[in-house]
Amino acid sequence: MGPEDLDQILKALPIQKDPRVLVGIETSDDAGIYQLTEEVALVQTVDFFTPIVDDPYTFGQIAATNALSDVYAMGGTPLTAMNLVAFPIHSLPSTILKEILRGGLAKMEEAQVALVGGHSIEDKEIKYGLAVTGIVHPHRYLTNAKARVGDQLVLTKPIGTGIIATALKAEMASKEAVHKMVESMTTLNRRASELMKGYDAHACTDITGFGLIGHALEMAKASEIQMVIHSEKVPIFSEALDYAKQGLIPGGAYSNRRYFSCHVEVDSRIPEILIDLFYDPQTSGGLLISLPPENAQKLVEALRMEGSFQSSIIGEVIEGPPGRIQIV
Ligand code: CO
Ligand code: CO
Ligand code: CO
Repeated sequence: MGPEDLDQILKALPIQKDPRVLVGIETSDDAGIYQLTEEVALVQTVDFFTPIVDDPYTFGQIAATNALSDVYAMGGTPLTAMNLVAFPIHSLPSTILKEILRGGLAKMEEAQVALVGGHSIEDKEIKYGLAVTGIVHPHRYLTNAKARVGDQLVLTKPIGTGIIATALKAEMASKEAVHKMVESMTTLNRRASELMKGYDAHACTDITGFGLIGHALEMAKASEIQMVIHSEKVPIFSEALDYAKQGLIPGGAYSNRRYFSCHVEVDSRIPEILIDLFYDPQTSGGLLISLPPENAQKLVEALRMEGSFQSSIIGEVIEGPPGRIQIV
């Protein structure tokens, strides 16, 4: 069963309409939004997964950064978090769990998020993540549904973490590649989120399991627009391209391609291997931001000033059949 099938089961629930729910389960958005007052809405999200790196502290950092990202993608400010833990306490030393939690806590502290609780179960496989609660102004949150024709698209982190993680599992990844991957996956999307609001961003989402194409398509569908992505402008980890050429492509990239490729038109001159990267499932990926063309370069420059050197304008929003992407 693929990710979309699971999604369909969840969305088929007979959920009652509630006017306070500003963003709910029926759209493919990053987090739910619930209006509390005229000034304040709650932003809520949850995310957890199995380790993708060996070092438990690093894994904790990645999982927390990833979980916080959905609040940032909607322009919210995360305030509190709860740990979600599955751990084989009888077969693995508890020091591993302590390190995972310590890594998660470090990121919560960096994000100025208070850890307020959590829940743990015994399980054969380690899983860790967070349930995060934040706030946003009920009129000023971002979804993936408001991209406009003429907008440009900014991506704030390089693509290829899934492929590097696959190479790491196969013990074929270089130290340098793993270092770059970890650095990217543990970088909070907080500053990108704060900055985009100052540049009149229309729509935003974060790039995670469905890959660049999958998440861009969700935006294209929800916004009823078409997108052009300039393949040579997409920031990628150069090592990921090398590993992809060696066949180190995660299964998720193939299922993403199966699900999404019918909505994508690819210029035949583009190397197939690059398209594999665009379907690569990301963990704790960057933000994809749709904003007015006169602001896109300014946002990229502001991000670069803060050390986000790989932020780039990767494409634009055009008129045309909605929910489609052209890769040129
Ligand atoms: Co998301
Ligand atoms: Co999520
Ligand atoms: Co409990």
